[in-house]
Amino acid sequence: NPPLGTRSLRYGTPGAIEAAAAVIARGGCVAVPTETVYGLAADATDSRAVAGIYAAKGRPSFNPLIVHVPDLDAARAVARFDDAALALAARWWPGPLTLVLPLADGSAVAALATAGLDTVAVRVPAHRAMQALLKACGRPLAAPSANASGGISPTRASHVLASLDGRIELILDDGATPAGIESTIVDPARGLILRPGPITAEQLGFARGPEGGAITAPGQLSSHYAPGKPVRLDATERRSGEWLIGFGAVEGDDTLSASGDLVEAASRLFDALHRADASNAAAIAVAPVPYTGLGEAINDRLQRAAF
Ligand code: TXA
Ligand code: MG
Repeated sequence: NPPLGTRSLRYGTPGAIEAAAAVIARGGCVAVPTETVYGLAADATDSRAVAGIYAAKGRPSFNPLIVHVPDLDAARAVARFDDAALALAARWWPGPLTLVLPLADGSAVAALATAGLDTVAVRVPAHRAMQALLKACGRPLAAPSANASGGISPTRASHVLASLDGRIELILDDGATPAGIESTIVDPARGLILRPGPITAEQLGFARGPEGGAITAPGQLSSHYAPGKPVRLDATERRSGEWLIGFGAVEGDDTLSASGDLVEAASRLFDALHRADASNAAAIAVAPVPYTGLGEAINDRLQRAAF
């Protein structure tokens, strides 16, 4: 039965981490911030708990989840690392990089978390709240973004409540997430980026993989991050009835970054989409954002929002 009200506990409140770990231990879901977006975490080794994530999100069950672990040792219990994977882990973990790797022999991850694939998406997050929860739980946590399936990813506890209030038991609130955009997902064996994110193609020296390529990342469903109203891209001015999200010289009702800073823009992107969605305007327009560096990930999310 879905819980009636969703409790919110501030990170740092005595007992907050213990309370969250207790919910996870009995197979429940907890919304918890990472450095990218809020995740909806449950015990990755417990298929009933993982089913609870899919149920709360209304997510199609073929879409596999990212498994979060506190460090490389814990990651090696879950996935098989070759030298390329080890080098990436050494360089970028903890941080917003997800590696798609073969499942380790004897991996305890529930098949439902990987949607039955023989690979697993794994990452070591840097955020203090997720790190504390992982350590308190002592098991890998499956965590997709904490929003109803297809909706805008949450970068604040209020965003989580807006789509999942009453559907999850607990939110661990630690304010706005710093990066604001989901982790970069890579296939280390093929040197491909499956989902652009905070760590850029330039930083990795990897090419962008085929959309829905051989390893499908079904989270690459075209209509993702979709607000409830039409979204027009590359807008240089506001048309009647629109809420304009600005960037650089294009000043909007809300502006991603007046100075044209892509890091600032990424951190504000989902917050801006949530505000636009909640506004009275009938439609949303977004100013052009360059495709360089982090701009690739920003444009990827914008195109899915506009689909
Ligand atoms: O920043 C993030 O990555 C956030 C935070 C909470 O960690 N999580 C997140 O999870 O964005 P989610 O479930 O919304 O996105 C997971 C993505 C999906 O596109 C999914 O298809 C892909 O990872 N994925 C998961 N397992 C995969 C696998 N074995 N092979 C290829 N893609 C996989
Ligand atoms: Mg998501």
